[in-house]
Amino acid sequence: MTHRIGVIGGDGIGPEVIAEAVKVVDAAGVAYERTDYDLGAHRYLEDGTVLPDEVLEEWRGLDALLLGAVGDPAPGLSAPAGLVERGILLRMRFDLDQYINLRPFRLPPRCDFDVIRENTEGTYAGEGGFLRKGTEHEIATQGSVNTRMGVERCVRYAFEKAAGTERQQLTLVHKKNVLTFAGDLWQRVFDMVAEEYPQVTTSYDHIDAACIHFVERPERYDVIVTDNLFGDILTDLGGAVAGGVGYAASANLNPARTGPSMFEPVHGTAPDIAGQGVANPVAAIISARLMLEFLGEHDAAAKVAAACASPEQYTGTTAEIGDAIADAVKNA
Ligand code: IPM
Ligand code: MN
Repeated sequence: MTHRIGVIGGDGIGPEVIAEAVKVVDAAGVAYERTDYDLGAHRYLEDGTVLPDEVLEEWRGLDALLLGAVGDPAPGLSAPAGLVERGILLRMRFDLDQYINLRPFRLPPRCDFDVIRENTEGTYAGEGGFLRKGTEHEIATQGSVNTRMGVERCVRYAFEKAAGTERQQLTLVHKKNVLTFAGDLWQRVFDMVAEEYPQVTTSYDHIDAACIHFVERPERYDVIVTDNLFGDILTDLGGAVAGGVGYAASANLNPARTGPSMFEPVHGTAPDIAGQGVANPVAAIISARLMLEFLGEHDAAAKVAAACASPEQYTGTTAEIGDAIADAVKNA
């Protein structure tokens, strides 16, 4: 069956890097039907469109979405803070139930690990509000939502992932010494699921300690599972220690396949270098590789993975790097 893929270049360097990712998918010889969506801050500034309900409904019929980046399109040009990030990116993750955010970090021999970030709950759920806003007695609360179901499905995915690696190690990262309610739920669910995976070695690190380990000895990690906000921060750090955010890719997965999964580089729109052809497309290309894997195109994915094994070998403009990787894939 032909895969139906929606492509959203987005803003800033997004369309430039996605063009190279599509080039590489084509070079891998995968057949698919492509639909482009013109969305992002640039579109909002043009006509006020963020994400129409009809578009979201149309996406439900797709197999995957490939996204560049949404946010500030150019220096000095911006939509209201967070509007397109929440209105497009987070809405996609929540409404399409992409509950796993998988972010691989490979820079052998320094590190080789995956972070599995819960992608639909925690402080991102939007729980909270203002009281007496704008007065001296103002109160702002922002709760962390952790459902048993949401934690369990994420933890189960992480154990499955860890059971499939060579080292079979899984670390829960949280802050259970202080976040005693959420941390307690995460640890209990983690321990419960662990009983079903005796072959997986488990451990626990506090988020602050994990940050030190990321910098000092990232090789200790194999698979990490953590909540939405800790995962957001930890994966930026992961990008920084694993060769730079130019190589950091992500998969927003709906493993139950009740809707399309979404694949995007971890980096943002980089308005300062947009339109110059100097953005590194490797993170977008690795994101496309994750997409091919999820679509079951294992041969094609393996070719892209081999071509991107030492991504620092590719230099030049955005298109030159894309061409070189596409050639390597074609000749594989
Ligand atoms: C990410 C980004 C998003 C997040 C922003 C743009 C809302 O930082 O994908 O990591 O916080 O999840
Ligand atoms: Mn982030």
